[in-house]
Amino acid sequence: MQNFWVDLPKPFYILAPMEAVTDVVFRHIIAEAAAPDVWFTEFTNATGWAAAGDKAIGGRLVKTDDEQPIVAQLWGSVPEAMEKLAARCAELGYHGIDINMGCPDKSATKSGGGSAMICNPENAAAIIAAAKTSGLPVSVKTRLGYSRIDEWQGWLTHILQQDIVNLTIHLRTKKEMSKVPAHFELIPEIKALRDTVAPQTLLTINGDIQNRTHGDALVAETGVDGVMIGRGVFHNPFAFEKTPGTHSREELLSLLRLQLSLYDEYSSRTNRPYDTLKRFYKIYVRDFEGAAELRDRLMHTKTTDEVRHILLQYTS
Ligand SMILES: Cc1cc2nc3c(=O)[nH]c(=O)nc-3n(C[C@H](O)[C@H](O)[C@H](O)COP(=O)(O)O)c2cc1C
Repeated sequence: MQNFWVDLPKPFYILAPMEAVTDVVFRHIIAEAAAPDVWFTEFTNATGWAAAGDKAIGGRLVKTDDEQPIVAQLWGSVPEAMEKLAARCAELGYHGIDINMGCPDKSATKSGGGSAMICNPENAAAIIAAAKTSGLPVSVKTRLGYSRIDEWQGWLTHILQQDIVNLTIHLRTKKEMSKVPAHFELIPEIKALRDTVAPQTLLTINGDIQNRTHGDALVAETGVDGVMIGRGVFHNPFAFEKTPGTHSREELLSLLRLQLSLYDEYSSRTNRPYDTLKRFYKIYVRDFEGAAELRDRLMHTKTTDEVRHILLQYTS
């Protein structure tokens, strides 16, 4: 696949990369509910992979051929490691590389990765150049700044000067984490900057966008190219549907049953302990009579079979 970004609809929708959430299993749940236009993996550390191989990255890069187009999100501050993992992603059949320059977590920033890249623009440019050697289109996901909102002009100008295919801007600073509302008010100015510095680079907005209807309204106001939605799918796994509908208990529980089957199918490759599934149960078990009680029972289970057994009582 050549640079898929240029063939996307406008606006296009992306499922946000979410560590320990958007693995191959959950992406297939969203595909079943209502698919976005682009898939992203969870972020995957290049330095760890270059040093220790596949065991360092768990199942983060497991994907299937029906996930199209799919972008590997990578992070790390060592260009040689980025070059190696980006080349591996090309071999694995990924359609693009996205570089995480926004993660606020110490596990990424202490080695200069994630949002710490904002404080080292020269290395950020070197990391982008390293990823490009793979031949895959390279995009960046970042925040407005590290500690102050007014950092965005200098930082985003620098990133846009690196000739990337897409810039996703999570409309908060690193310091703001996710504690304040996303700065939607800055979108028009950021778009004007993009139009001046790099009109060929697509601009995607992210942060607090609930669903496609909400995204479409922001696009109509601002003219950005794309919308990325993360936590919106926790409230509504159908967040990407074009015509919002109401969804029955049975539809939600059948997504849960699908997640149990896919978890079993992929567990030898993704290596996620059973308890990691529990964070998903509240997505499906809500807004119907007896939901709280059912959730409570599911939280006490130890196997997917136990959950299946409990759900037998809920077959309509
Ligand atoms: C559980 C969780 C894990 C996340 N992991 C990543 C990640 O691996 N890479 C990344 O760029 N952002 C990650 N994020 C940030 C999201 O991609 C997104 O930028 C943020 O949640 C704001 O968008 P939203 O309001 O649509 O969720 C994560 C967020 C959450 C809630």
